[in-house]
Amino acid sequence: MRLVVCGGAGFIGSTFVGLRVREHGDDVTVLDKLTYAGRLENLRDVADEIRFVEGAIEDPAAVAEAVAGADAIVNFAAETHVDRSIAEPFAFSVTNGLGTHVLLEAARERDLRYVQVSTDEVYGSIESGSFTESSPLAPSSPYSATKTGADLVVCSYFHTYGLPTLVCRGSNNYGPRQYPEKLIPLMVLNALAGDHLPVYGDGRNVRNWLFVEDFGRGIGHVLAHGKPGEVYNCGGPDECENIEVVKRILALTGSDQSLIEYVTDRPGHDRRYSLSAAKLEALGWRARTRFEEGLALTVDWYRDNSWWWDPIRSGAYREYYERHYGRALKEG
Ligand code: NAD
Ligand code: DAU
Repeated sequence: MRLVVCGGAGFIGSTFVGLRVREHGDDVTVLDKLTYAGRLENLRDVADEIRFVEGAIEDPAAVAEAVAGADAIVNFAAETHVDRSIAEPFAFSVTNGLGTHVLLEAARERDLRYVQVSTDEVYGSIESGSFTESSPLAPSSPYSATKTGADLVVCSYFHTYGLPTLVCRGSNNYGPRQYPEKLIPLMVLNALAGDHLPVYGDGRNVRNWLFVEDFGRGIGHVLAHGKPGEVYNCGGPDECENIEVVKRILALTGSDQSLIEYVTDRPGHDRRYSLSAAKLEALGWRARTRFEEGLALTVDWYRDNSWWWDPIRSGAYREYYERHYGRALKEG
């Protein structure tokens, strides 16, 4: 297929691009604005096999350049960090809302298949049981609210114009090349540096962990086998309380429990996420990686690839960290 992958220089998008090039031989164009979270290093293994367009999804000219000759658009591009959406929400409306809409117009003009990469956070928090695709939408943060709005506009393009749209909602991803503002890489790198591990609230919030390659294959499955107009959940095989995740990371890095520090909770913090992936499983997709195995592999990757995270931890991330956590990041 001739695919345009928006946000393909980020964590999940770059994993998806690698899978499509290696396992499917697709002709891939990446459109990416290269924000703080987007890095060409993430695409270095496939750099000679893809076309790269630097630009924003909310810029119709950049989008037109990227989609020329394409069969389908897969949209990963987004502002993705919940804490940043609480501190500075406006960029989330521009990219997640307006940007998605500009892509849909480009798809409509050329009648392209369109896959929107979305999140379990659109359903809000669930005490027990799991969300299905027909659960009510109840987003809590500016991040999840803008992702929800985008999903609804995507579905409206199917109902109104007959555009072949699909939405794939993933649970919490983890794996190599995740920017260290997110729970798992932040805790791994802080543990390796002997720094504090800042756990929000009581640490008992639950996330439904999905290894990034499993999500990449799930999105590929939706692209190939999904029914236009439908939404598919892609949930991981395991759930875990945050404090348990942190303790496992301490064990895997050989660090001491005294590094754990309970800090002020995130405002509006969702207690638990849990997705039923039965609808996507009925199409033949299965998560292959259990959390225990994927976490060990992820810790090893960060331990072995300081070339990847060193420039991040010595750059603008330091200022973000100090602003958000009220203390400097430890060197090392
Ligand atoms: P990320 O923050 O690692 O990467 C986002 C990418 O989008 C970066 O390459 C960035 O440069 C690019 N980008 C941002 N704004 C852009 C714009 N205006 N125009 C073009 N490119 C832009 O994100 P991620 O964790 O890889 O998430 C990718 C997608 O998956 C997002 O849509 C996110 O909502 C969704 N998702 C993420 C998770 C998760 O756990 N990380 C789970 C479910 C769904
Ligand atoms: O559920 C899917 C979503 O997962 C994606 O849509 C988002 O793009 C992605 O960022 C992620 O959102 P979360 O808010 O769940 O992920 P984060 O890594 O920020 O936090 C995971 C949990 O860990 C959450 O309960 C908050 C907690 N946490 C996080 C950080 C950064 C801490 O306790 N301490 C921290 O320093």
